[in-house]
Amino acid sequence: MIPDYTKIEEFVKAKLKPSRFIHSIGVMEMSVLLASRFGVDEEKAKVVGIYHDAYRYDSTPGSIELVEKNGYRVWPEERKDPMLLHGALAAINFDSDAGCAVSSDMKDAVRHHTLGHISMGKLGGILYIADYAEKGRKHLSEDERREILGKETLESMIIYIMDKSRGYLLSCGIEEAGVSKELYKFLKEGGRL
Ligand SMILES: [Fe+2]
Ligand SMILES: [Fe+2]
Repeated sequence: MIPDYTKIEEFVKAKLKPSRFIHSIGVMEMSVLLASRFGVDEEKAKVVGIYHDAYRYDSTPGSIELVEKNGYRVWPEERKDPMLLHGALAAINFDSDAGCAVSSDMKDAVRHHTLGHISMGKLGGILYIADYAEKGRKHLSEDERREILGKETLESMIIYIMDKSRGYLLSCGIEEAGVSKELYKFLKEGGRL
């Protein structure tokens, strides 16, 4: 089922700092645009876009056990940095926050929005791209944003973003996560979401 957008937006607005709420609006808007272009349900894209960071401030070392108890695998990089589990926490809380049984593709999208995953689906791909490239993001120029949106497929957009992010991560001394490397290899070999 698709949750009521207005209800989710109110929930997120009350939970996040204004700057992160504005980011969430930007992600929502770009997600809807990409969904319309690539034939994905726009209402689903709207809801996952606004909701994806709802648990951005809630991760603690205790989240690792909570996420595992709820049937999700925790990646080694998430164990080291539990902040990365905010997508998993959102997936776990999605039904109760929405007041309905949320469809699994929407949960998969929010679960995997940070590191990416080969099974994140088209909706997850859209969320991953919008999270990186929404109009409020200052880490990329308008030219880069245009370049991303100029690609013909979601997969090629993600490859471009991963190439860019890898350079940034390396400059911070952080190695790319295993699931992200797996996604990159999958896409480079022609895999489709
Ligand atoms: Fe996030
Ligand atoms: Fe985000």
